Amino acid sequence: MIVSAVPLAPNDRVRLAPANVTVADFGRRDATLAGALADADGILVNSHVNVDAELLGLAPRLRVVSTISVGFDHIDLVAAFERRITVTVTPVLSDAVADFTLGLIIIAARRIGEAIASVKSGGWDVTLLGSDLRDKTLLVVGFGRIGREVARRAQGFKLQVLVFDVRPEVPVLDGVERVTTLAQGLARADFVSVHVDLNPSTTHLFDATAFAAMKPGAYFVNTARGGVVDQVALARSLEEGHLAGAALDVLEAEPPNPHDPLLALPNVVVVPHIASATVETRRRMLECALDNLATCLRGEPCVNALDPNLRE
Ligand code: DGY
Repeated sequence: MIVSAVPLAPNDRVRLAPANVTVADFGRRDATLAGALADADGILVNSHVNVDAELLGLAPRLRVVSTISVGFDHIDLVAAFERRITVTVTPVLSDAVADFTLGLIIIAARRIGEAIASVKSGGWDVTLLGSDLRDKTLLVVGFGRIGREVARRAQGFKLQVLVFDVRPEVPVLDGVERVTTLAQGLARADFVSVHVDLNPSTTHLFDATAFAAMKPGAYFVNTARGGVVDQVALARSLEEGHLAGAALDVLEAEPPNPHDPLLALPNVVVVPHIASATVETRRRMLECALDNLATCLRGEPCVNALDPNLRE
């Protein structure tokens, strides 16, 4: 039995055959969910489902957690791996997220959020001067699949690209310079774009100290996870005029408290975690997650299974 958090069309269910599939509301930890999970061999979830130890405890037969996301911070890996449950992800969204990241960089640099707000409120502010990208410096923090695609695109916009990644073995691209500490990169960058996983070592990586280390007038862009950023510190840095602007696809709390001071700042653009949200990419992610699930349930090796030594 497979329990899915998302509705599945008949042709999607065929990919999982011969397993039976039931769709459940994972947002309600009630008897209906417990009843479904009691027989589950696999679950299909997305990044909005909190797969914690309690949820895993409701599924004594569980062998596979297949998430329709590349991020896995919503899954308690320690609890899953202790029970030898396989966890799979969908690393098929790099282009969509990288395109979107460049979009956010341009939105921030050219003050497009402020321009739209001005026109919608009856204004026509022709004095909204932004910043060129050409010959400016972008720091890409985290040089995995997405960071790499962001760097490629940024070079097309004539940005100088710096990269910081804690893994020294990660290769960089031609024309991209690696910095050995985050502080070195922050001190040189006009734009900082975040592409790291959320785990205990990256939680609040961007705190008051990191924002103070950024160049005055720099821009901050985050399409990774909100928990990487101390939002209070970010808001303060923007209010004080140290940073020129920010564009955020992800927040610590999603959806945010409507009174979150960040939302009121004119030089901040916030969008609802949609960097991977294109019709084609979301379809590819679903198909990848279905195939991951079917492969693992057949007992075959799955290239998208997380390494059980990864316990953060
Ligand atoms: C991912 O795949 O992790 C994206 O952030 C969508 O949740």
